[in-house]
Amino acid sequence: MAELLITTIDGEDKTVEASPGTMMMEALRDAGLVEGTCGGVASCGTCHVYFPDKQMAGEHTEDEGYMLEGLADFVEIKDGSRLSCQVKVTQAHDGIKIAIAPEA
Ligand code: FES
Repeated sequence: MAELLITTIDGEDKTVEASPGTMMMEALRDAGLVEGTCGGVASCGTCHVYFPDKQMAGEHTEDEGYMLEGLADFVEIKDGSRLSCQVKVTQAHDGIKIAIAPEA
């Protein structure tokens, strides 16, 4: 299990356990922290999170990049922005700090 240290939209700190090999959005959705409205196909933006920096965030998928560009009209996009439905959890995520982005 990877323990994700989450800051909610309200600024609360929570710990969420995520299984390596699953998509990060699933653990955040199951914890009630993101909606994941599109089911994980990078088309709703409701699973947007901020990683601490670009390196920790990893590379966007192409579809994800387009979605983040669209979100930029409504919410701040940071170097560490990712759609959590496009992030596969690995053990390297254990202890990582992630903030839930405001809703678009
Ligand atoms: S769940 Fe819709 S974009 Fe991630």
